[in-house]
Amino acid sequence: MKDINKKDDFVRIFDTTLRDGEQSPGNTMNIQEKLRVARQLEILGVDIIEAGFPIASQGDFDAVKKIAETVKDCEIAGLARANDKDIDRAWEAIQNAAAPRIHTFISTSEIHLKHQLRKSEDEVLQLAIDAVKRAKKYTANVEFSAMDATRSNRDYLCKVLAAAIDAGATTINVPDTVGYTVPKEFGDLIRYVVENVPNIDKAIISVHCHNDLGLAVANSLAAIENGVRQVECTLNGIGERAGNASLEEIVMTLRTRKDLMNTDTRINTEKIYPSSRLITSITGVAVQPNKAVVGANAFAHESGIHQDGLLKEKITYEIMTPESVGMNKSSLVLGKHSGSHAFRKRVEELGFSLSDEELQKTFKSFKDLADKKKEVFDEDIEALIAEEVLRAPDVYKFLNMSVMSGSVAIPAATVEMEVNGEVTKDVCTGDGPVDAAFKAITKLTGTKSKLLKYIVNSITGGTDAQGEVTVRLEEDGMVVVGQGAHMDIIMASVLAYVNALNRLEHAKKKSVKGIYH
Ligand code: KIV
Ligand code: ZN
Repeated sequence: MKDINKKDDFVRIFDTTLRDGEQSPGNTMNIQEKLRVARQLEILGVDIIEAGFPIASQGDFDAVKKIAETVKDCEIAGLARANDKDIDRAWEAIQNAAAPRIHTFISTSEIHLKHQLRKSEDEVLQLAIDAVKRAKKYTANVEFSAMDATRSNRDYLCKVLAAAIDAGATTINVPDTVGYTVPKEFGDLIRYVVENVPNIDKAIISVHCHNDLGLAVANSLAAIENGVRQVECTLNGIGERAGNASLEEIVMTLRTRKDLMNTDTRINTEKIYPSSRLITSITGVAVQPNKAVVGANAFAHESGIHQDGLLKEKITYEIMTPESVGMNKSSLVLGKHSGSHAFRKRVEELGFSLSDEELQKTFKSFKDLADKKKEVFDEDIEALIAEEVLRAPDVYKFLNMSVMSGSVAIPAATVEMEVNGEVTKDVCTGDGPVDAAFKAITKLTGTKSKLLKYIVNSITGGTDAQGEVTVRLEEDGMVVVGQGAHMDIIMASVLAYVNALNRLEHAKKKSVKGIYH
């Protein structure tokens, strides 16, 4: 095998949580939320942040621009199809970044050429060359992706990749767009690329795997073993359909099995869990409890034999420590006598980086909560921060509510809100207090979404626990999730509903659909 990528032998982490991840149902974020995630990705130490797809909508453009102007320690990539307009727009958004990268792509599989692009191989080859050359006029840092590479003719794929490198691409990406390949086949394909693209030593090879068959991480690792030195992945594995390769799983496999993999990343692994929690807090989309590395049960040992072994020596059943991924459980429980220093310390231990103003705001809510609740747990603090700081409202802001309900009264709710900057108030009756409150909100906002799901959970144990409500709404085929937490279940429901409506408004603004995966 050719001797490639020897100079700086580490795997670059190209995080696409804010692009491929954000475009998947339930994971939309507004500009403030995206900016917060980007800052966290910088703390996590990813090498490249794919901040979005600037031509897709004004909102995407603004978010990419803001991230490019704010984040200084990562490369910032903007996605562009292989045409002038997309590339110019991407550059406009990222030009102020400390290290901008244009990421341009076009499909190379016969299936996509015939049924989607309706172009010949020669035409697509030329478009790829032209796109890279156009991007190159703006920046030396250009990535080219051959979409649906795993279903492409290998020789044609190699021809396009070689031409893209000749045109100036410094990273060439081999995506498994539809999650079709398996590790052995994908490893072989990468080796084929290494051996049959004559100028391959002039570019970093990247992969981008989707998880339709649950193999995205395994496929990415097989690619690394065959010379790949950039992986595209997302926190919690969020992304189109079954998602993208999960960042935390790739990173921790490379770290834990460095002996076998002979390479590593530059990720600060102890920032993994807080980063994962941040995505969950913002989007309201929870990770499954048994999810590797970041799931609630990832380090929980239930069986007696395992517990016995662990008590004697951790290495018996623990291949990595919870601390190494930043999952530090505190024995310290906060209460109404806890001061701002203890609160700040705990917030930092939980991995949040809040401004002084944000800390003050959450400390006040913490005090209010501690007055009502004897013990305030980590989960309560996370919920407070999500409610007060992380979930940024767009057009709808909840202000006040009063409800009437009981065994004889007709349930009624009076809700006051700010809609597009204007304060407005209305009262509605309903089948129950939540129904009445939702009806009032629907009337005030003039929205017409359908409520698909309404779930109530208690954040911790006990009757004084905060309630956490998740709602799922649908409108014109768009599905969003909203979350709210409060000691009063009806309040939590209203917060979740308003949160979902804001997400829906944001999702509606995304205009270009169905053109990327
Ligand atoms: O899945 C895919 O092929 C993509 C490309 C834009 C890299 O997301
Ligand atoms: Zn993708």
